[in-house]
Amino acid sequence: MNAQPRRVENIATDRGVIPQYATGVVEQPWSDYSAADHQVWATLFQRQRELLPGRACSAFLDAQHALGMTPDAIPRFDQLNRHLRAATGWQLIGVEGLLPEAVFFDHLAQRRFPVTWWIRRADRLDYIAEPDLFHDLFGHVPLLMNPVFADYMQAYGQGGLRAQREFGDEALLNLTRLYWYTVEFGLMREPDGLRIYGAGIVSSEGESIYSLASPAPNRIGFDLERVMRTRYRIDSYQKTYFVIDGFEQLFAATQQDFAPIYPRVAGAESMAAGSVQPGDRVHHHGTREGWPEGADV
Ligand code: PHE
Ligand code: CO
Repeated sequence: MNAQPRRVENIATDRGVIPQYATGVVEQPWSDYSAADHQVWATLFQRQRELLPGRACSAFLDAQHALGMTPDAIPRFDQLNRHLRAATGWQLIGVEGLLPEAVFFDHLAQRRFPVTWWIRRADRLDYIAEPDLFHDLFGHVPLLMNPVFADYMQAYGQGGLRAQREFGDEALLNLTRLYWYTVEFGLMREPDGLRIYGAGIVSSEGESIYSLASPAPNRIGFDLERVMRTRYRIDSYQKTYFVIDGFEQLFAATQQDFAPIYPRVAGAESMAAGSVQPGDRVHHHGTREGWPEGADV
C-alpha cells in the first residue's frame, strides 16, 4: 500500500469535485514510504537526471548535486534542510497538497517552502493532476539554494500578502501568471543557449524536451508587464515560454513597487497564451503546430 494524502473535504464546484487538503504542517512520514514509493522516486530521478545536463540551467544542476539528492531513496526533508539552512536560510515544510493562497504566500514570506509529502503511483508516472513530492522536491527545491532566486521567492510571498491586503483579485491573478511563467515554466539564456529553470519543466520528461526543442511554442524575452498580462495553459505544454537573462534580471524587475503596475495591467487587455506582440523580444516565433484548441486560463 502506498502512502496516501489525507483529504479533509471534497468540495463540489462547477468543474467537478476538488479535494481540499488540510493546511497544517505535517511531519514527513518517511518510514511509511513503501518500496514502491522509493522506486517511483528512483525511476523519475534517473530519467530526469539523464535528460537535464545541457537542458537545465547550471544553477539547478549544481544545486541538486550539492543537496545530496540521489536516486537511492526519497530524500528526508530534515537532511535537505541542513543544506538549505546553511546556503540561504530556506526550510522545507511537509504539507498534504496545494495550499490556499494566503497560507502559501505567508510560508514563502518566511522562507518556508511547502513540499507535498506523498509521491505519485507507479501506474501514473507521467500524468499528475496536482503537484506531488517529485515535482516539489526535484523541481522546486534545488533553486532555493541559489541566493538570488531564494530572495525572489521570498519577495514573491511578501508581494502576494501585500496584493491581498491592498490590491485584490485582479492583482493576484497577475502574480499567479508571473509565478507560472517564471518559477514553474521559466527558461534562461546561458552562454551556450537556452536552458530550463522552471520546476514544472524540469520535473516533466516530455516538457523538458519540448520546451527547448519543439518549433511549436514561442520563446520570448522576459518583460514583467507582458508576463502579467499573458494567460496560460493548464492542460497542455505551454504555448509561450519567457526567457530571462539570469536571476538578477528577474529579481531586479520585481523589486520595483507594483502599486502603479497593477492598475496599468488591469486596464490593459490580457493576451492569449500563444500570441506574439509588437515589441516582444522574440527568440523563437512558434509554428503553433499541435496547439490545442480551447480557452487559456
Ligand atoms: N515588488 C512587488 C510589490 O511592490 C512585490 C513582488 C516581488 C512581487 C517579487 C512579485 C515578485 O508589490
Ligand atoms: Co510547482
